[in-house]
Order: sequence, then C-alpha cells, then structure tokens
Amino acid sequence: MSNKKELIVSAIKDGTVIDHIPAKDLFKVIKILDFEHMPNQVTFGGNLESKSMGKKAIIKVADKFFADSEINKIALIAPTANLNIIRNYEVIDKKPVQLPDSVVGLCKCINPKCITNSEPMQTKFEVVKDDSVSLRCHYCGKITDSEHFTLL
Ligand code: CTP
Ligand code: ZN
Repeated sequence: MSNKKELIVSAIKDGTVIDHIPAKDLFKVIKILDFEHMPNQVTFGGNLESKSMGKKAIIKVADKFFADSEINKIALIAPTANLNIIRNYEVIDKKPVQLPDSVVGLCKCINPKCITNSEPMQTKFEVVKDDSVSLRCHYCGKITDSEHFTLL
C-alpha cells in the first residue's frame, strides 16, 4: 500500500473498511451492525478530518466480508458511507452503500397505535426514497421519516 500520510486507524490485512460515515452517526452505525455479537477485530475512528465531509468516521472490520443485506441497512442512517474491500492490504473493491427495498426489525414504527408497538413482533417497513429517506410501515401504513428513526 503506497500511503504518504500516516493512518490514524491502522490498516487491515483483510476485511472491510466502512468509510465516509457522517461523524455524528458513528455510534448508530455501530449499533446497527451489532458488533457486540461479532468475534472479528473491529477498530474505529470518530471525528476525523475529511476534505469532502468536514468530519467523518470510519470502521474497520478484519476478516469480515458483509452480505449486502447485512450492510445496506446502514444506508438508512449513513447514505454517504462507502465500503472498501481489503485483501492482502490492497483495496480490491470500493462501493457505496445502497438503500435496501425493505427493512425488518431495525426501527420502531412512529404510530403509537401500531400493532408492532403493542405485540411482541418485529417491525417491517418499505423504504421510500424521495428527497429524503423514510419508512412505510407494512402493518399500519404510517410513514416514519428519517428525523424520527428510533433504532431498536
Ligand atoms: N484501508 C485500510 N487498510 C488497508 C487499505 C486501506 O484500512 N489495507 C483504508 C484506508 O485507510 C482508507 C480506506 O481503506 O480509509 C480506503 O482506502 P484508499 O482507497 O486507499 O483511500 P482513499 O483513496 O483515501 O479512499 P477514498 O477515495 O474512498 O476516500
Ligand atoms: Zn406501524
């Protein structure tokens, strides 16, 4: 790897680097990815200088190659994030995160009368994309906008 600048978070040999996370969203992304239950080595940096974003955050997960369904839910919170796939210290693939069509069991429905708020069941939403991203509840049809995403 030819790197003129020193890395604040060490390079990894193999795995996934999630870069360009808005600094304020780092801990939400960490929560979504459920690292608590992952045996992999995870390092992260917050409030790092970024030319394009002002401040950004980064997460590096050694020996982990996420399935699209595992990773794309972070696009709801951090649409600017991109994935760098690392093999033997080289970036072999770089791709933006992509919004999924639906999400299951990630957020609460904003509607207090929704069945998902009174029964022990998973929430389920259709992802609606116009100017911003919002979630349409599969059960009650109410829209939860991105300002009101409450992670479960
Ligand atoms: N990286 C890493 N370990 C490696 C190789 C790269 O942790 N073995 C990290 C770099 O620190 C960087 C990201 O993966 O945060 C992408 O690497 P690279 O494409 O080399 O950096 P940039 O050109 O700065 O990426 P971009 O243009 O996407 O900002
Ligand atoms: Zn609902």
